[in-house]
Amino acid sequence: MPNDVKVLIAEDEPNALAGLAELISGWGYRTETARDGVEAWEKAIAWEPAIVVTDLKMPRMDGLGLLTKLSEGDAGASAHLAVVVLTAMGSIQRAVDAMKLGAYDFLEKPVDATRLKTILANAARQRETVIELEVARRRLRETGVLGALVGGSKPMREIFALIEQIAPSNVPVLITGESGTGKELVARTLHDLSPRKTRPFVAVNCAAIPETLIESEIFGHEKGAFTGALERRAGCFELASGGTLLLDEIGEMPAGTQAKLLRVLEERKLRRLGARSEMDVDVRVLAATNRDPRQAVAQGHLRADLFYRLNVFNIVMPPLREHMDDLPAMAEAMTRDMNQKHGRKVAGVSASMLDRLMAYHWPGNARELRNTIERAVVLCPDGAPLDAGHLPPGFGAASDQSAPALDASAVTLRVGATVDEAERLLILRTLEATGQNKTRAAEILGVSLKTLHNKLKVYERDREGAPVEDGRKG
Ligand SMILES: Nc1ncnc2c1ncn2[C@@H]1O[C@H](COP(=O)(O)OP(=O)(O)OP(=O)(O)O)[C@@H](O)[C@H]1O
Ligand SMILES: [Mg+2]
Repeated sequence: MPNDVKVLIAEDEPNALAGLAELISGWGYRTETARDGVEAWEKAIAWEPAIVVTDLKMPRMDGLGLLTKLSEGDAGASAHLAVVVLTAMGSIQRAVDAMKLGAYDFLEKPVDATRLKTILANAARQRETVIELEVARRRLRETGVLGALVGGSKPMREIFALIEQIAPSNVPVLITGESGTGKELVARTLHDLSPRKTRPFVAVNCAAIPETLIESEIFGHEKGAFTGALERRAGCFELASGGTLLLDEIGEMPAGTQAKLLRVLEERKLRRLGARSEMDVDVRVLAATNRDPRQAVAQGHLRADLFYRLNVFNIVMPPLREHMDDLPAMAEAMTRDMNQKHGRKVAGVSASMLDRLMAYHWPGNARELRNTIERAVVLCPDGAPLDAGHLPPGFGAASDQSAPALDASAVTLRVGATVDEAERLLILRTLEATGQNKTRAAEILGVSLKTLHNKLKVYERDREGAPVEDGRKG
């Protein structure tokens, strides 16, 4: 299938060069060779390869120099070019530098043929994605939207540019930021804008899995690997095969699991728990955390060597309060989403509502905004715009920046209250918030209208002093 995909190979050691050329031609690629960086550069312009496989240490111009020239893009040909860098064993820092200069992937010498084959296949697919990316980029310039991410502010535009730049490659990315800032959405966008998009995106939350199960969850296990392992099971790496794996809350991963993960990232080989043989891994790994990763390293929660592996690129999501210019567009987009989700026809966000939203400091970031909009959309009549009346009672009142944001719309219970009392308070407060609209209240509470009616009947009887049991009985 690779038939007419052209691969240029640059390597100063003649035997290695011949070997690579033979190997790569054998997979059906058209190959051309160069013995130093200058020759490679000249051939890249004249021959217009799709992929360049280059050694780092070469006479006249080294691999990084070649990469720099190629990514400057004045060759025209290089715009859609993927560069795969060959590095000496243990020179991860050089590989990281190469990735930052725009390399597509790297491979340690001696070259593992299976790995190289996978990388070339992915790189060849990448060309198609680049064209789609250009469409996404144009749309981004016009609307300030990248996939499901909304944002035209300076910090968000910088993040969008970085996402576009690194999405098609295979590099690990560490995504950091407060809770609710959109880290998972960024991970999905990286996947959707990559050649892996037709393959699975798997997210695993390391904080949500008990320590005893996490290794089997991530790496899989064979039948009988440990007590309770009744069946053989594939782990997240296998489930994400060919696609992208997001390791969420990476700082919560146990130290032993981190060590194993590092090995998988380094060797791109994986052994299920209890398995005898290893298998090749073709997964792009993304990691997210809402801790400061350097502090997590300092405190011993995150292995330093794993951190350096994952942190080839770092996307730092700003808290919403630091890019409030994006809030109006985000609120509009979320209103459209919620209209669709709930089958509503709310007519956007009114000026009065927007004033209130802009005055708030959003400790829960985009997620809190989304929840606020969702609640308002459910309460708002079709055809009308969202306005301040659709906000929770007391919304933003506790804006002394230190009080927890939820207080404004929370129900306060005394310790020792019964479940019945709690339920009753919640129902009555929700009715208040909806202006006694029972249909809306039932929607928010997640119960049927009938259940709500029945509860209200009971409360009414309580108020009238009737016994709680059905009075008709006696
Ligand atoms: N820039 C944005 N535009 C539109 N929606 C956004 C944006 N950022 C986040 N959201 C929405 O906010 C919600 C929270 O985002 P997400 O789950 O990605 O946050 P997170 O950083 O992973 O949070 P946590 O740390 O709690 O896991 C999602 O519903 C997401 O769609
Ligand atoms: Mg998340």
